[in-house]
Amino acid sequence: MPEPTIRRAVIADAEVLSWIGAETFTQTFGHLYHPDDLETFRHEAYGLDRTHADLADQARAQWLVEIDGQAIGYALAGPCDLPHESVTPTCGELKRLYFLKDHQGGGNGSRLFGEVLCWLLADGPRDLWIGVWSENFGAQRFYERHDFSKVGEYGFKVGRTVDREFILKRPAARTQI
Ligand SMILES: CC(C)(COP(=O)(O)OP(=O)(O)OC[C@H]1O[C@@H](n2cnc3c(N)ncnc32)[C@H](O)[C@@H]1OP(=O)(O)O)[C@@H](O)C(=O)NCCC(=O)NCCS
Repeated sequence: MPEPTIRRAVIADAEVLSWIGAETFTQTFGHLYHPDDLETFRHEAYGLDRTHADLADQARAQWLVEIDGQAIGYALAGPCDLPHESVTPTCGELKRLYFLKDHQGGGNGSRLFGEVLCWLLADGPRDLWIGVWSENFGAQRFYERHDFSKVGEYGFKVGRTVDREFILKRPAARTQI
C-alpha cells in the first residue's frame, strides 16, 4: 500500500473533511447514541457550514491524511475551549484526531499527532489540552504516551446522552515534541 501523505487542509477540502469527520465519528461512537441524536449531531458538528467556518478560522488548523488522494484520517487543532478553570486564551487544544477503522494502529496517528504538535507549539511552549471519552481506552493510552494526563472531566452532550469526558493536559514545561 502506498505511504499515506499528510497535508494542511484548505477551503476546497470542506466536502471531504465534512465526510470523513462524520464517517469516523460514526464508526467510533455511533453505537452510543439514539439514531436521531446521531443524525442531528453529525449535521451540527460535521455539516458543510460548520466545516467551512472551521476552515475559515485563522486560529484553527486542519490536516488531511490521504492515500492516493483518498482521505483516511484528519485532525483539527486550535485554541482550547475545554471547560476547565486552568484554561487560558494562550492554551492550545487538539480537538479531533480520527482515522477510518481500516487505517488505525499502523502508526498514522502518531505521525499526524507529531504534525499537530509542531503547529500548536510553533510560537513556543504552551499548555496543551485534549478532551477524550472516559471509555476510549486506546486513545487515552495513545495520549498518555505523548505526556498528557487527566486533570478533570465534564459532560459532553449528544442529544439525550451525556458522555463522561476526561480532560487531559500537557503542561508547557513538558512540551517537547
Ligand atoms: C486514536 C488514533 C487517532 C490513534 O491513531 P493510530 O494510527 O491508530 O495510532 P498509532 O498506530 O500511531 O499508535 C497505536 C496506539 O494508538 C492507540 N489506539 C487507539 N485506538 C486504536 C485502534 N483502534 N487501533 C490501534 N491502536 C489504537 C493505542 O494506544 C495504540 O497503542 P497500543 O499498542 O498500546 O494499543 C486512532 O486509533 C483512531 O482514529 N481511533 C478512533 C478515533 C478516536 O478514538 N480518536 C480519538 C478521539 S479523542
